[in-house]
Amino acid sequence: MPGIIVVGAQWGDEGKGKATDQLGERVDYCVRYSGGNNAGHTIVVGGEKFVLHLLPSGILNPGTTTILGNGVVIDLDVMASEMQALRSRGLDVAHPLLSANAHIIAPFHTTIDKVTERFLGKRRIGTTGRGVGPAYADKVNRIGIRVQDLFDESILRQKVEASLDQKNHLLVKVYNRREIDPVQTTELLLSHAETLRPHVIDCSRVLNEALDADKVVLFEGAQASHLDVDHGTYPYVTSSNPGAAGACTGTGMGPTRIDRVVGIAKAYTTRVGEGPFPTELFDEDGETLREKGNEYGATTGRKRRCGWFDAVVVEHATLVNNFTDIFLTKLDILSGWEKIPVCVAYDVNGVRHDTMPMTQSDLHHAKPIYEYLDGWTEDISEARSFTDLPLNCQAYVQRLEKLVGCRISGIGVGPGREQSVMIHDLL
Ligand code: GDP
Ligand code: IMO
Ligand code: MG
Repeated sequence: MPGIIVVGAQWGDEGKGKATDQLGERVDYCVRYSGGNNAGHTIVVGGEKFVLHLLPSGILNPGTTTILGNGVVIDLDVMASEMQALRSRGLDVAHPLLSANAHIIAPFHTTIDKVTERFLGKRRIGTTGRGVGPAYADKVNRIGIRVQDLFDESILRQKVEASLDQKNHLLVKVYNRREIDPVQTTELLLSHAETLRPHVIDCSRVLNEALDADKVVLFEGAQASHLDVDHGTYPYVTSSNPGAAGACTGTGMGPTRIDRVVGIAKAYTTRVGEGPFPTELFDEDGETLREKGNEYGATTGRKRRCGWFDAVVVEHATLVNNFTDIFLTKLDILSGWEKIPVCVAYDVNGVRHDTMPMTQSDLHHAKPIYEYLDGWTEDISEARSFTDLPLNCQAYVQRLEKLVGCRISGIGVGPGREQSVMIHDLL
C-alpha cells in the first residue's frame, strides 16, 4: 500500500502534473492509465518548466519508476522524442516501462483524427488531433495494434495491412486523401521494437507485486472526469475513461487496491475544445483569468475557455470518482477580485438544478446560479500554511469544500513544486 489515484475534476488542465510531481520522492511508481499524448502536464522545478504529453510526470524524480499502463495509447515517435528532449536538457531519465497490452497510435490514426474533425466542420469535437480517438476506436473495434505486436513481425504486418485496407478506402473515397502505405507504416513501427523490448512488462503483475511489497503507486490521470467517455459531457469528451475507475481497467488493478482518490480542481474553470461550459465568461473577467492564469493549451497552444468555479461540475466529479481529497490549484490567480462568483446550481428553463442535469439537452440550457463570495487583494504565492491565507481566501476554500462535498487537502498557490499549502497529507 498505498495506491493513490490523481484525477482531474473538471475538463482538464487543473494542474495534475504539478500535483503528481509534488508527491515526488515518496512515490515508487508513477503510472499513466488512460489517454495518450493529448495530455499536457506542466511541471515547474527550480524555475525550469517541463511539459510532458505522454510520459508520466514522475519521470522527473530519479527514484520513481514510471509506467504506461494498458489503458494508454502510445505514439512511439512522440515517446522517443519526449525522452530525447528530457535527455538533451541534461536529465538522466530512465525509460518508462510499457504494458504489453497498451495500444499504439500509428501515424494513420493521427491523419484520421485530423480529417474527421475537418469533415465534421461545425459539429467537430475540437480534439487535440493526436490520433487518440481513432486509436481507441480500433481497440474497441478489435483491430488495434498493441505494444506486444512489435515483437512478432508477421503479426504486425498483417494487423497494419488489415487496418489500412479499410482505412485507405475511407481516406481516398470519402476524405479525398492519399492512401497510406502499410509497408512503410510497419517499418516505422518496427524501428522502435529493439529499443522498447527491455521495457515491456505485464503491468498488472508488476503493480500488484509492488503494492504487496508496500510500495507507493501513484496513478496519474490525464484529461478529466468531465472528459470521460462514460461520465463526461458526451460527445464532447475524450475516447477513454480518465476517471478513477479507469485506473483499475487501465492498469489491471482490482478496485480494493486503491486507498486514496485525489481530485485536482482549479479554483476557477477552464476548458479547451468544444462542448458545454455553463460558467464560461465572454467578458473582461474571462480575459483576465486567461491572462493571469496563462490559460493557453500546453498541447495545442489553443486559448483555454475560462469561467468561474462551478461547484455543480466538481460535485459531480466527487460523486463518480468518490474523491477522498481535493487539491485546489491556482488559487493565487483569484487575488484581486472584490467579489468572486461561484456557481452553486443551474437554472434550466426556469427549473433549479442543484446537481448535474441528467441529460445533454438540459446541460445545454443550463444557466449558472451564482453565490458571490468576498474576495481578497493579497498576493498569496508565498503562503505555505492555511493560516497564511487571508481570511476571505480561507472562507472561499471552506465554502467550496462544503459545496463539492469533499475535504480540500492541498492548495496550489503558484506553479512551482514548492508553491503549495498542505492541509492533510496525501500519502
Ligand atoms: P494538467 O494537464 O492538469 O497537468 O495541467 P496543465 O499543466 O495543462 O495546466 C496547469 C497550468 O497551471 C500549468 O501551467 C501549471 O504550471 C500551472 N499551475 C499548476 N498549479 C498551479 C497553481 O497552483 N498556481 C499557478 N499560478 N499555476 C499553477
Ligand atoms: P490534460 O491531461 C484539456 C480535450 C480536447 C477535446 C476533447 C477530445 O492536459 O488535462 P482528444 O484529442 O482527446 O480526442 O480530444 O478532449 N482534451 C483535453 N482538454 N486537457 C487535456 O489533457 C485534454 N485531453 C483532451 O481539447 O475537447
Ligand atoms: Mg494539461
